[in-house]
Amino acid sequence: MKDIHALLAQMTLEEKVGQLIQISPSSLGVFAEITGPAQEWGMTLEEISRVGSCLGATQAKHTIPLQRKHIEDDRNHIPLLFMYDVIHGFRTLYPIGPAMAGSFDPALLYECAEMAAREAATAGIHVTFSPMVDLARDPRWGRVMETCGEDPYLASVMGAVQVKAFQGEDISAHDHLASCVKHFAAYGGAEAGRDYNPVEVSERTLRQFYLPAYKACVDAGVRVLMPSFNDLNGVPSTANTFLMKQILEQEWGYCGVTVSDWGAIAELCKQGVAEDLKEAAYKAFTAGCQIEMMTPAYYRHLVELVREGSIPESAIDEAVLRILKLKDDLGLFEDPFHGADEAKGEAMFLCPEHRALARRAANETAVLLKNDGVLPFSKDVKKIALIGPFAEEQKIFGTWNARGKAEDTVSVREGIERKLPGAEILCAYGCGNHYTDTDTSGIAEAVELAKQADAVLLCIGEPQSYTGEGKSRTDITLPGPQAELVKAVTAANPNTAIVHFSGRPLVLTNIYDSSRAILHMWMAGTEGGNAVADLVFGDVNPSGKLSMTFPRAVGQCPLNYNYTNTGRPKTVPDEEFQNYVSSYLDCGNRPLFYFGEGLSYTTFTYESMTLDTHEMTEDGCVTVTVRVKNTGERAGKEAVQLYLRDMVASAVRPVQELVAFEKIELAPGESKEVTFRITEPQLRFWNAQNQFVSEAGEFRLMVGYADHFHFADSFRLIK
Ligand code: NOJ
Repeated sequence: MKDIHALLAQMTLEEKVGQLIQISPSSLGVFAEITGPAQEWGMTLEEISRVGSCLGATQAKHTIPLQRKHIEDDRNHIPLLFMYDVIHGFRTLYPIGPAMAGSFDPALLYECAEMAAREAATAGIHVTFSPMVDLARDPRWGRVMETCGEDPYLASVMGAVQVKAFQGEDISAHDHLASCVKHFAAYGGAEAGRDYNPVEVSERTLRQFYLPAYKACVDAGVRVLMPSFNDLNGVPSTANTFLMKQILEQEWGYCGVTVSDWGAIAELCKQGVAEDLKEAAYKAFTAGCQIEMMTPAYYRHLVELVREGSIPESAIDEAVLRILKLKDDLGLFEDPFHGADEAKGEAMFLCPEHRALARRAANETAVLLKNDGVLPFSKDVKKIALIGPFAEEQKIFGTWNARGKAEDTVSVREGIERKLPGAEILCAYGCGNHYTDTDTSGIAEAVELAKQADAVLLCIGEPQSYTGEGKSRTDITLPGPQAELVKAVTAANPNTAIVHFSGRPLVLTNIYDSSRAILHMWMAGTEGGNAVADLVFGDVNPSGKLSMTFPRAVGQCPLNYNYTNTGRPKTVPDEEFQNYVSSYLDCGNRPLFYFGEGLSYTTFTYESMTLDTHEMTEDGCVTVTVRVKNTGERAGKEAVQLYLRDMVASAVRPVQELVAFEKIELAPGESKEVTFRITEPQLRFWNAQNQFVSEAGEFRLMVGYADHFHFADSFRLIK
């Protein structure tokens, strides 16, 4: 343990401010020469020797010499923190966030995130900018691919489990990292799904829907937090004292480190809340943003702001102490390389155990959206046609790939070849999947191949580069002429199943009727193609559920299953028009697929749901027992989901909210009981008096999902 208070006492103000500056490795050049942003800012070598952290070094062969040099050069010998985005794996990639959330299997995500930490630690990375728990209700927003989906409870569970897995029991251990939760707050609420756009949400919506997942990560002990780019109700998060002082520090008791998003402090000027960099530095720092990522507001102005008396030095001291404490807890003063080891990494990356885990994760996250019995295919097929832009594509692993590479990734073709070494495989591209693609000339060849084959896998979707930061879209139907390809190929060979890749929910309405089966893979990580082969030939039974609703039409966005009722809800079947109710003239209200939806090759029958009591006191609980039976012929897994509705309250309440879930495995004919406990804190909400409390009255519990509930029963909260 380092005496960080003694260290602080010997630091000059310039040295303290240095700890609040983060630069890229390119700024550190080849050690003697200053390049990159630091050169633009006019930093001297001495100033560089004082910076506290570095973003973007991802190889031990860089982090080790950089760290060594930095410790030598810094008068106080303070090690650097190396930070990076290790989001869904480092070299071995597992499926993207919404896919992992839809596994409804936190233990699986724990294993995956631990693997990511283990691999990243060998590169000398100390902090990962993960998990991202921004609630995602609008699939036009490209960053939905990083989130844990649209539900606050699921995102809370999946966010917290990642924090625990990345950090382990002790962040000084060589196979763990510090975790950074982001983007605080409500970044996913960007208006019209356009990235970086303002977010306007009421305090009620903010507290009930958007905040719980960040809070869950704070409660799980997350060490770093990143405010979001957007403004929240008019105040950019980077300079938002309500968010960072009132909620984060005062209400949640957070005393970890905060780091701005990339360039976000300087962006306060463009957002029009700061006249210049100096005011931006002042506003961000006093709001609670400690480290500045990649812009020079702190570098240029913090010292001056302290000297002129605008910011007390004690506030700088407090921020620096938090950073030094993180470095100390990571063990960096005694062990500055934190186990970074190129050879250890090379031996671990893509090793059979890691690939097996990535494959298991891809298998558990695939969602069977439709199946009239065409899947699984028989392994006796002699000739199989793989058609579509994703048939041989290796870019199916998802963006934010850290050190992951397309060439490491198993394509669908490779997966099928390995699965059926004796079968003849026919392949046709069919058509492109970019929105600029119009060429349909390949469809005829695809149709010919489809006619010759015993079975066809039509591998379609949205390119992986279409989701991620800055990748918003207005039209989220299948890009290019793919719908035409689907119609032609399914007509040519009815033994056709669709394998669909995308980083966001797409509007699949125009291919729904002509498809017999749709297997949604999201972006499936390094082992995606092997998982497709396991799933379509029935070696694995699909068990993923949607963590985000798939709209029927883009005009329905934003869209979420946990909506509140209007005074005029629709009372006729969704496909019929009804006047003067909350609906559309040209489309039903129901999405194409709801949150929580996902089929299996077997059938699960919900046999009963019982409540041990129909009255609950404030310190009591209701125990709910659900009995589920596998009534089909294959073993399978089912995510049993329990939803709640607060029937009458002082403010409108969602028609359903996920409150508990458990994924179980059942052999054919087997039945199991799942038990959930509901306690008073789960009934709390932001009421009409702006208090986070529960209110007495009736609560309805439902098992199933959205509009497919098998049982419902009620209890009363007595106060
Ligand atoms: C910008 C992104 O918004 C954020 O999520 C990421 O962590 C940083 N860049 C650093 O790469």
